This record gives sequence, C-alpha cells and structure tokens, in this order.
Amino acid sequence: MTGAGGPEVEKKVLFASLLFAGLMLALIAYAAVRLGISVPTCVTSVKPFEEGELIQVAPGRYEAHMVAKKWSFIPPHLKVQRGSVVDFYVTSKDVVHGFLIDGTEVNLMAIPGAVNYAQARFDKPGKHQILCHEFCGAGHDNMIGLIEVTP
Ligand code: CUA
Repeated sequence: MTGAGGPEVEKKVLFASLLFAGLMLALIAYAAVRLGISVPTCVTSVKPFEEGELIQVAPGRYEAHMVAKKWSFIPPHLKVQRGSVVDFYVTSKDVVHGFLIDGTEVNLMAIPGAVNYAQARFDKPGKHQILCHEFCGAGHDNMIGLIEVTP
C-alpha cells in the first residue's frame, strides 16, 4: 500500500521542482543576456608582485599595482589626472585585506598569493580614500590609502 498521495503526487512534486529550477536558470540567462547583468570576475591570473607602483601606460591611462600589508597600502598615495582610467591590480603581502575606493565601484579583496582586478575612471578632481574593509588586526582602522585626482 502506498502512503498518502503515493507515486502520482511524488511525480507532481518532482515535476514542479524541476520546473522551478528551470525557471530560475531561465531568469539567470535572461539577466545575463538581455539585461547585461553579470557576476563580476575580478580574479586574474597575474603573478603576484612584490612591489607596489603606479605606472602610467599612456596619457590618462594608469596601471596601479597595489600591495596591501599590515597596515597600509603600497603605494600609499596615488596621483592621477582628472579623466584618467586606472586598472587596479591588488594583492596582499600577509593576511587578507579589503580594498575599497570610496566614491567608486571598486571593492576588492586583497589576497596573499592572488591578484584581483578592477578598473575605475576618475572624472572629478578631488580625493578618494582607499579603505581596508576586512578586519586584519590591530591597525585595521588606520589602514587607509589615498588617491588624489588633480585638475
Ligand atoms: Cu587591512 Cu583591515
């Protein structure tokens, strides 16, 4: 004897759950293809670098190799011209740190042994703080860098 419902109900439940999963996949595909929404891929295959530096690769184009360590960013102070586009490559020398640039959409993790990437454009002169948003020890609160955008 079958219990309450029996195989017919099980089939219906199975069908409903497959339909639901298919609907979710269709929504994800719709978001990716039609709405242009994608999960940001920030992990790169760039070899971890030891030295932080700001490299000007062309007029208005920079590459920032950022090294996070307890408890600062290297280089600590970047200066770029208004209208510049900066490619940020971020790694860590010790523990996991955060890398958030205020006033931009750049929000990465600085991970030892890996290099993460984000790009930002700086259209207005002014200052942006680089903040560590991952608790990394005693000096975490003071782990702040600076980007200065000159007129
Ligand atoms: Cu580095 Cu918090």
